[in-house]
Amino acid sequence: MFAKRIDRLKPSLVREILAAAQAPGVISFAGGLPAAETLFQPELSELKLPASIWQYGASEGESVLRDLVAQRANRLGLACRPDQVLILNGSQQGIDLVAKLWVEETTKILCESPTYLAALQVFDLFGASFESSQADWLSPTDIEASQADFAYLIPTFQNPTGRCYSTEQRQLLAQAFDLRRMPVFEDDPYRDLAFDGPAPAPLVSHLQSVPWVYQGSFSKTLAPGLRLGYLIAHPDLIVPLTRLKQAADLHSNRLSQAIVTHVLANGTLDKHIADLLPIYREKRDLMHQVLTEQLAEKAYWHKPAGGLFFWLELKRDCDTHYLMQKALALGLAIMPGDPFYPAKPQQTCTLRLNFSHSSLELIEEGVNRLARLI
Ligand SMILES: Cc1ncc(COP(=O)(O)O)c(C=O)c1O
Repeated sequence: MFAKRIDRLKPSLVREILAAAQAPGVISFAGGLPAAETLFQPELSELKLPASIWQYGASEGESVLRDLVAQRANRLGLACRPDQVLILNGSQQGIDLVAKLWVEETTKILCESPTYLAALQVFDLFGASFESSQADWLSPTDIEASQADFAYLIPTFQNPTGRCYSTEQRQLLAQAFDLRRMPVFEDDPYRDLAFDGPAPAPLVSHLQSVPWVYQGSFSKTLAPGLRLGYLIAHPDLIVPLTRLKQAADLHSNRLSQAIVTHVLANGTLDKHIADLLPIYREKRDLMHQVLTEQLAEKAYWHKPAGGLFFWLELKRDCDTHYLMQKALALGLAIMPGDPFYPAKPQQTCTLRLNFSHSSLELIEEGVNRLARLI
């Protein structure tokens, strides 16, 4: 009854845990949700919405918004023109479009291990297999030795590890990609959540010759419910990607595009980011402090300089799925690290903890509960 690829469609553990985390009284470190108090609430009455936005629009996205996105990318050091920008219904759509462009059943993807679970889910669906780094992040040696057809990576405040490659690492990786002639897909939704100074320029800005796709999102800075993101592609890729977008959904939601155009054009986005950073920084610092007080002897982690997550490696063997069940019974939702590994099945003693969603009190209480359980 179903296409063969449906057998490869895995249920997402995150969605299941998130459903359990919705129960009243549960402290959730499981998802990647922005804090409710930071969600951008547009003054809809201030928006002068042209009647034309209720009509079908361009597959590429609204031209003013594409201009603004290109200008922002240029300021980051990524040279591009507005006609290289495609506006997406969330950057998750970019993963789907790139998978349709590049992945078939013989395709190998080089990625970090662990990496973003929902990207693995999409690439799996299209039949990809994975090559991954030995360490948490990619090195030039991984690229030189790789047989992969393209690389997918999250160089800035990675999901799930929170790691951020330095400028020098980005330059070395870009050189290795050019030498190995390996196309690069850089996923960059967390860049603006930088708590200790701005993140280095995108890795793809250092590439000389290979094709690339770079994508970003307004979910983590404004609101995920807007469902708005964008991709910027090497000029050779933008036409097929635009056709894929057209085939998928004709175009992105025009009301969301009007809202984001307005907040980008009048500087509200940057002001909103400046307002939310201290809130997230305080939560990150508190989680680090309580982890240090409670779990320093039982786990390793590093303090992330941005993004939404702590990545914990427990020092002793531990069945983290059992731990997750026990934690849920105590009213705490945590995310086992296993599903983030491309090579499955793999038992790891890792956990991803989100610090953005819970209040300061609940961060403290949640880490205390976790420490007692461990
Ligand atoms: C690495 C990464 N890429 C893409 C996405 C998708 O984000 P959105 O579709 O909300 O833009 C996420 C969401 O958590 C993510 O962590």
